[in-house]
Amino acid sequence: MKNTILTGVRVNGELTLGNFLGAIFPIVQLAAKHADEYNVNIFVPDLHTIIAEVDGKLHENTMKSIKYYMATGLDTKHPNIHVYRQSYIPAHSELTWILDCFATMGETSRMIQYKEKSDGGKESANVGIFNYPILMAADILLYSAKYVPVGEDQFQHLELTRDIALRMNKKFGEIFVPPAPSREQVEFMSLDEGLRIRDLVHPEKKMSKSSRNENAKIMLSDRPEAAAKKIMSATTDSVGKIQFDMFNQAGISNLLQILSLLKREPLQDVIARWTGESSYGDLKQEVAVALKHFLQDFQEKVAEISDKTVLEVLEEGEARMRKVADAKLLEVQKAVGIRR
Ligand code: TYM
Repeated sequence: MKNTILTGVRVNGELTLGNFLGAIFPIVQLAAKHADEYNVNIFVPDLHTIIAEVDGKLHENTMKSIKYYMATGLDTKHPNIHVYRQSYIPAHSELTWILDCFATMGETSRMIQYKEKSDGGKESANVGIFNYPILMAADILLYSAKYVPVGEDQFQHLELTRDIALRMNKKFGEIFVPPAPSREQVEFMSLDEGLRIRDLVHPEKKMSKSSRNENAKIMLSDRPEAAAKKIMSATTDSVGKIQFDMFNQAGISNLLQILSLLKREPLQDVIARWTGESSYGDLKQEVAVALKHFLQDFQEKVAEISDKTVLEVLEEGEARMRKVADAKLLEVQKAVGIRR
């Protein structure tokens, strides 16, 4: 049986450059490299999306996100590449409930994202925020995904998925393929460490689509000129010398990281070119120009893809994946005794 690579990006609001560089671009590259030997599942976690404010734009944003993969070069015609929406495959919700009964309150309460998104566990936070990593575990385990390319902020959820799978396997026999441990995931993605594009105003935090400060994030739909301006006004530091040091010079290091990814130039080479220079303005200028060119080209490609094409891709993927998911769900239902 082929191993599976699987990932998803929520679509609340527009996606950021962090989502693109941290998820969309690497998954499209991984798909190009591995689709002949692996199944590659790329899905829209629309059920995860509604934990945040519901704004009536979910359908539109879903379509846009698929266009982003396609504009980045995803080969949606490849027989091993499967693109689908989570909510169109009911087994995701059904397996979540079963997994809920094998995960503990302690485990889920320890999730950093839960603490952040619920403002330290506030009682007014919705239960979806709490249950979020279990639905994510179902997304992964239904398709026996070994590799789950995600940014470092999701590693804790991956480890939880692994723990639940191993626990249930111990009890019921090998019903699940646990995802590889985070370290192996990182090796597979050929990154030195989990990638985290930073907030442009507060570079100690990750760039997040939910940030209220427009200058802190680059949206994929930003006008190229406006995006370039945000780079020029990004927060740096008072050290006065360019060095790659995420701890003491997060803003500058973030710019070096972004530059390397946009220009597809190895990070070590970008660092070698800039280390010791003192003009932060020159570095920003190079990043701003690279970003402007990237966005112009990307947005043109996105505009060329029709909704009809996207829907065809989704419906085909959903028909195929429903079978895989239903078969796994039935196996689990039998194991826990609710089916014979
Ligand atoms: P989400 O939608 O918050 O983020 C999608 C992906 O983008 C990565 N990411 C970043 N990477 C680098 N720098 C950033 N600033 C940045 N911001 C976001 C995230 O790490 C993630 O890989 N729970 C997931 C969605 C999901 C999922 C799954 C993923 C649901 N089920 C199953 C994989 C497998 C999430 O909320 O990601």
